[in-house]
Amino acid sequence: MCGIIGYIGKDNKAIEKTISCLEKLEYRGYDSAGIAYVFNNEIKIQKSKGRIKNLKDKLQIDTKSNCAIAHTRWATHGQANEINAHPHKVGNVTIVHNGIIENYLELKNMLIDNGYKFISDTDTEVACATLDFFYNKCNKNIIKSIDEFKKIIKGSYALGIIYDDDINNLYAIKKDSPLIIGISDESYFIASDVPALLEYTNKYIILEDNEIAKLTSDKYEIYNMEKIVDKEIKTFDFKYSTQDKGNFEHFMLKEINEQPKIVYDLLKENIDNNLEDIPSLINYDRIDIIGCGSAYHTSLVAKYIFEQQVNAEINCYVASEYRYENNFFGKNSLVIFISQSGETADTLACLRKVKKQGIDTLAIVNAQGSSIAREADKVIYIKAGQEIAVATTKAYTAQITILSLLALKLSYEKNIINNFDEIKKDIDKITEIIDGVIKNIDYETIALNIYERNDIFFIGRLVDYALALEGSLKLKEISYINSCTYPAGELKHGTISLIDDKTPVISIITDESVMDKTISNIKEIIARGAKSIIVSCIDLDDDIYDYSIKIPKINPFLQPIITIIPLQLLAYNIAYKRGCDIDKPRNLAKSVTVE
Ligand code: F6R
Repeated sequence: MCGIIGYIGKDNKAIEKTISCLEKLEYRGYDSAGIAYVFNNEIKIQKSKGRIKNLKDKLQIDTKSNCAIAHTRWATHGQANEINAHPHKVGNVTIVHNGIIENYLELKNMLIDNGYKFISDTDTEVACATLDFFYNKCNKNIIKSIDEFKKIIKGSYALGIIYDDDINNLYAIKKDSPLIIGISDESYFIASDVPALLEYTNKYIILEDNEIAKLTSDKYEIYNMEKIVDKEIKTFDFKYSTQDKGNFEHFMLKEINEQPKIVYDLLKENIDNNLEDIPSLINYDRIDIIGCGSAYHTSLVAKYIFEQQVNAEINCYVASEYRYENNFFGKNSLVIFISQSGETADTLACLRKVKKQGIDTLAIVNAQGSSIAREADKVIYIKAGQEIAVATTKAYTAQITILSLLALKLSYEKNIINNFDEIKKDIDKITEIIDGVIKNIDYETIALNIYERNDIFFIGRLVDYALALEGSLKLKEISYINSCTYPAGELKHGTISLIDDKTPVISIITDESVMDKTISNIKEIIARGAKSIIVSCIDLDDDIYDYSIKIPKINPFLQPIITIIPLQLLAYNIAYKRGCDIDKPRNLAKSVTVE
């Protein structure tokens, strides 16, 4: 993870511009932040533990500088403190780094034998010293020395580099971590993603693994094997919402409230053209879906929709496992990759692994132009707009919406449904329905009654189990309450021993085919004193709950989109009552670009 930014230009605004762009990358990690800038022909470094605002407090933002590199950190090697914060400087070389250097211990020993000393616990300081080592070894030929560095280093990296001896140039390289070059008037940027630069430019170049970028204020050169290569300049024309909370106290709440429109627009646009833009899955004999965290949870929701409504089998895999597993394919296999950021390291590694086998790939992605979107054979954008809260909400529902449309199209192609007339009626009402579930339910009172508990359980069957997993993840992420999720019938096979007097158990019941079974399980936990909270679209007897959240019943292809909303808002309200940092929970980052 980590976010990196670099700037070189003639306007002497390097500090102001890098810090402003760095703030847009804070979603990548906020353990510490730092900047290195050229001032009076010298490289100055300033670092701070915690948020970027702490760094800003230490800086004179209008200090004149024409070149800077900056970093916001999500700690991998070494604690989140000022010493381990980037930039790191060794000898002639100063760097910011995103990624993990896997052979850093081996390199560190080699460097110590060559007289280098280290002050931090980071792999980045080792990378920096390695660059300095080759810089000296290659008689200060920078391009050659970076090529030598690339040959010896193992792992993933995106690096912004400046040299004491060459302060009029900014260098950048990458391997398996994203890095783009931003092109503006008489100035150039490096950045972990394009949206970070949109205040200044939407023109960019994608740097590839084998390339080295050399940026000066009036020109850029991209080297491959010591030769300058031509690169396509791309334009980012995707509309990004402003990073502004509007009238909401948190981005998470704002993003929850954006869901009625996002879901409706996706459904309406596609249903109005009879799902022509939705790829057909009819010719595939095997469909696998890969993702991490919430993206994996959306694949489980899809599994139940495809299997229950379309009689089509789906296999779901967690990307960090799938990349090392023995994978199986059919004669005509499709692998679908789900990712909000489009940069998740494990998901990207799986995509590359599957592509090598010649299997068809489809990506369902939010971030336009991201690595997963670029590298998959086909991409469907979920059009949720930039998601800023670390805990995903609107991207999750938009992913489910697209997966439901894929299932709906297959259902039509398999003649299970003959037209879209029925679902169209529900689509026309969906904005109002989601809006009502957001606004008309008293989540605060339920939160008030359970927010001090240390454990909260979630249960459900079939699709409700998949949704329960996501509700529980939301709660854990932002409230730090321990939470377990079980298929309702599984609880008594051990875990029921954890239920004691007043343990909150949140049950989800939307699938009538298994409703009675879940109700029996709820009775079992009530008998052990649990506090029962039910989210359901069915009228239930009031002896099985302390609190009931009644949601509207809708077409089964769309029901999960409605069911997840109360779970998001319960998590939000509980975290709020506990005084947690809802948009930036501890230890998390929005984009997980390390494995
Ligand atoms: C949870 C959450 C994470 C992500 C996961 C995958 O709220 O946001 O679990 O879903 O890290 O990220 P993407 O979708 O960017 O691949």
